Amino acid sequence: MPAAEDYIRRCFTLARLGAGYVSPNPMVGAVIVYEDRILGEGWHQRYGEAHAEVNAITSVKPVERPLLRRATLYCSLEPCAHHGKTPPCVDLLLKEEIPEVVVSNTDPNPLVSGKSLARLRAAGVRVRTGVLEREGRYLNRAFFTWILQRRSHIILKWAQSADGFLGRPGERTPITSPLAQRLTHRWRTEADAVLVGTRTAVVDNPRLDNRHYFGPPPLRIALDFEGKLLLSAHLLDDSQPTWILGPERPGRWKNTYFWHVPARQAEGRRWWISFLLEKLREAEKGILLVEGGADILRQFFELDCWDEIRVLQSPFYLHHGIEAPRLPEIAVLQEEWRVGNDIVRLWTRP
Ligand SMILES: NC(=O)c1ccc[n+]([C@@H]2O[C@H](COP(=O)([O-])OP(=O)(O)OC[C@H]3O[C@@H](n4cnc5c(N)ncnc54)[C@H](OP(=O)(O)O)[C@@H]3O)[C@@H](O)[C@H]2O)c1
Repeated sequence: MPAAEDYIRRCFTLARLGAGYVSPNPMVGAVIVYEDRILGEGWHQRYGEAHAEVNAITSVKPVERPLLRRATLYCSLEPCAHHGKTPPCVDLLLKEEIPEVVVSNTDPNPLVSGKSLARLRAAGVRVRTGVLEREGRYLNRAFFTWILQRRSHIILKWAQSADGFLGRPGERTPITSPLAQRLTHRWRTEADAVLVGTRTAVVDNPRLDNRHYFGPPPLRIALDFEGKLLLSAHLLDDSQPTWILGPERPGRWKNTYFWHVPARQAEGRRWWISFLLEKLREAEKGILLVEGGADILRQFFELDCWDEIRVLQSPFYLHHGIEAPRLPEIAVLQEEWRVGNDIVRLWTRP
């Protein structure tokens, strides 16, 4: 007989289908069970659209709708209690008279947290929380950053040789395999914005798109304070939303926006980071993937402004070149696996 944990795991699997489409909202999955049989399931599919609980209820066959009054609803996150882009899910659960609700995480927003569960309890619904709580929080770590830190979740990502080099100075150096490149494109899809420094933009001439994976392309961002990027650079091809932190360049731009970044002496050379985070917050970009180079990555480390580190390590040696950043001592290794010949490692804060 499946346990509550099994159904919550199913919720996580469904929730993950929203990756790349729902940020800065959380990824949420819901399963409705009656006598160990799944009557319906759903997930939050797109930002601003129906929540997981609504989709799960809608998926129940009309002949089985009366069973909702005897079913249990499992959900990876506490149902919402407020009028946002959609009506509160808790009202729907009460209307459908679902007698039992099991959730993994309560809403991280301290102003909201537990409110809808209290309403359900007050109406006589059996409520259980905290099922696989740690896993749920890990799944939605970007959402937790967005709510609790009030800024984008910052992922620092790079590829390095077996002896710890990012590449040779002044030349585009392939480090990892095409399979690892595909993984990077998946990460770009799941992020809302991807950032590179000036030298990476000039030397590598990256497209920063997600052509090797499906899903919405990220916002591209490059530093170009001195207008060094050639007008023929991929990042200035206007093919997808792009922010350039630097002077406006001649041309008719549809998708490219040039930000004048006012100097903030007090913050030294890294002043642009707080400016960028403010603009990302205003544009509701929940996840920022920083793809280097070494200088930019180091600036984020120096500010202790990071949430996650992802490193692709190739088995090949470069012997000399640009050194990869040092990992902060507090970084906790969460995942390690292989993609082709490369090793993928993922760290978070404790
Ligand atoms: N293996 C990987 O994952 C990976 C990823 C990315 C890049 N790379 C490699 O890394 C190399 C580039 O890395 P990098 O460390 O040399 O450069 P970078 O981090 O891409 O860019 C640093 C540059 O950005 C500009 N910049 C940064 N902060 C600034 C500020 N506050 N004010 C003005 N300008 C500022 C400066 O440009 P100026 O010096 O032009 O003024 C600075 O040199 C490339 O060769 C690339 O191939 C490897």
